[in-house]
Formats: sequence, C-alpha cells, structure tokens
Amino acid sequence: MNSSDPGQELRRIAVEVASAAAAQAAGWRTRGVEVSALKSSPTDIVTAADQATEAYISERLLAARPADGILGEEGDGIASSSGLTWVVDPIDGTVNYLYDIPAWAVSVAVVEGDPDPATWRTLAGCVVNPVTQEVYAASADGGATLNGRALRVSDRADLASALVATGFGYAATRRRHQAEVVLSMITQVRDIRRMGAASLDLCGVAAGRLDGYWERGLQPWDHAAGALIAREAGAVVGGLAPDSREGAAMTVAATPGITAALRAALSEAGAHLPPSDG
Ligand code: IPD
Repeated sequence: MNSSDPGQELRRIAVEVASAAAAQAAGWRTRGVEVSALKSSPTDIVTAADQATEAYISERLLAARPADGILGEEGDGIASSSGLTWVVDPIDGTVNYLYDIPAWAVSVAVVEGDPDPATWRTLAGCVVNPVTQEVYAASADGGATLNGRALRVSDRADLASALVATGFGYAATRRRHQAEVVLSMITQVRDIRRMGAASLDLCGVAAGRLDGYWERGLQPWDHAAGALIAREAGAVVGGLAPDSREGAAMTVAATPGITAALRAALSEAGAHLPPSDG
C-alpha cells in the first residue's frame, strides 16, 4: 500500500474507480438504455450498462489490487487472497437509470474478512451520482465527505418531524408487506421518500437530507459503501434491534436522536416479519 493509512489509500482507489465508472455509465445513458435481462422478477432488471460497468470496475480494481476479491451485483465473484474484498454495485437505482431519473449511483466499498455483512469490517467506500456530480466517500474512523466537504447527520430529535426514506424489493409478496409497513409509518413521521437507490438513501442520511432510512431485503452491494458513509457521518446504522448489524433482514440508518423511536415504530409495524421472499 502506498500510504501510511491503509484506509485513506483504499478510499482513494474507491473514489478513483467509482468516479471513472460513473462517468462511463453516464455517457452510455445519453445514448439510451435497454433492458438486457430480468433477474428475480419481471421488475428486477439488468441493463447492458450494469454489466459493462461492473466489468470495467473489476478490471480497474484487479489491476490496482490483484490479491483482493470482488463481490459484485452482476458478476460471478472473485475470491480474495489478501483478506480484502471489493463490494460493487455498478449501477444502484437501475430502474431510475432506465427512466433517466437522476438518482442512480455507482457504489464501491472494500471490506475486511469474509464478504458477509454479518461479520465484515468495511474499510472504505465511495458512492458517486454522476448526474448531480456528487461524490460521497468515507474510510473507517476517517470521516465521511461529499465532494471533499465533511458530512454530518441532522440533529433531528423527534420522529414526528423526521423525513425518512425506504425502498421496496422486487417480489410482489415482499412489496405488499413493505407497503403495509409504510401505511403504518406514514402517520408517525413528517413524510416518507422512496427515491429508488439504497446507496443514495444512506448517503442522504449522512448528508442530513434525510433523518432516517430503513429497508428490508438489501443485498450486500446495496449498502456496503453507503452504510460506512452514513456511520462515519454520525448515523446509527444496523438492523432493527439495538447493536444488530445491517443486512438483508433489515437495514436501519438514522440520526441518533430518532433511532430508538424509528426502530420501535418499525418493530410495532412488523417491518421485520415474513414474507421472506424477494
Ligand atoms: C435497488 C435499489 C432500490 C432498493 C432495492 C435495490 P438496484 O438496487 O437500491 O432503491 O429499494 O432494494 O435492489 O436493483 O437498482 O441495484
């Protein structure tokens, strides 16, 4: 590693690779987008740009860090021999990308240990929205930034005046349940946003543009970078229970002043209950 602080060097690589990949994907977007495949359901799409962006990111990361592994949304995965793995969402917010809604991002994180959110330690991460030209970055214990400016969560202290966000999975049964949870939450908060890119929702909490966010069913690449950025900006990030880890069962990120109330309201709404598909 070139730097005396490994986290800073990894963060630099994450920013460089995510920024270059985001610029490429934005260029492809201007030439139009077509769905190239369906994944878990007819609404769960993949575009040629998703695949090409992930291939580009993998190539750049392997050139810079040949012993590291890669876990990406679209690829087969590459095992690590260094103990570090890059966790990549080439285009988070693929449906927004398809519709040219300016809320999609390239998300690149590097984790230590097994590439499993239940146990990994995230060392650095970067989320780039090329449309708004926003580069969010963080390293473990090194703080979080937006375009180089330090990020801090909001100082909101009551749930009733909190602006929160959530997302929906792709399976119909899961979505129905998630909509029921929204129905319960909507009367308890200022308002609810569904923007369509989990990484940007987490960065929104980091930037104080949202007071909180929750979602069930996230994949590791959806939250790896954004969770670190939110945590480094002062958010409490985890699952539904205090001291639990974020992951597929539940991801909750919020400014400390509303975390307990948000978790309690979500538990009351049954946000953690089956169905488990999707
Ligand atoms: C999706 C987005 C969305 C979230 C879904 C994710 P993708 O990622 O982050 O906001 O609600 O759970 O799967 O499919 O666009 O990479």
